[in-house]
Amino acid sequence: MAEELKISEGSKEDKYRLLYTQVQAVVEGEADIIANMANISSMLHYTFGFWWTGFYRVYDDMLLLGPFQGPLACSRIAFGKGVCGTAWKEKRVQIVDDVQLFPGHIACSSESKSEIVVPLLADGCVTAVLDIDSDRYSTFDECDSRWLEKIVALISR
Ligand code: SME
Repeated sequence: MAEELKISEGSKEDKYRLLYTQVQAVVEGEADIIANMANISSMLHYTFGFWWTGFYRVYDDMLLLGPFQGPLACSRIAFGKGVCGTAWKEKRVQIVDDVQLFPGHIACSSESKSEIVVPLLADGCVTAVLDIDSDRYSTFDECDSRWLEKIVALISR
């Protein structure tokens, strides 16, 4: 397993390509979803310098806070609420350039300016979401969406 991760060179596409192989190496020997979510949060967070990076798992008809890196966050999010609950309801990636313009956005931190939420799907059902916040506007695009979907697919079952 990779014991140290340092990806600082290249374009965003290059970084994701390298990070993806590192994530594969880390999760292939580990069956526990919480351990894998914890390491994926850390790897994404420190590679890209995001503001908040973490998972919410579907539990008791809510999204329940899981492993994350970053400041304190809300513990539970209802179906259809906020960006995370919308990704759960619509079963698709949400990219928000300016969180203040997203109706019903749940502000865990006033520093958060843009956000991407990627659902984890198993047999067509959302089991969790990966939520990433940036302290800059319009951070996320199709490149993030494509690679993050590939990364979460490694632990979706
Ligand atoms: N902004 C999210 C809530 C979670 S925090 O950003 C960590 C939302 O609107 O669902």
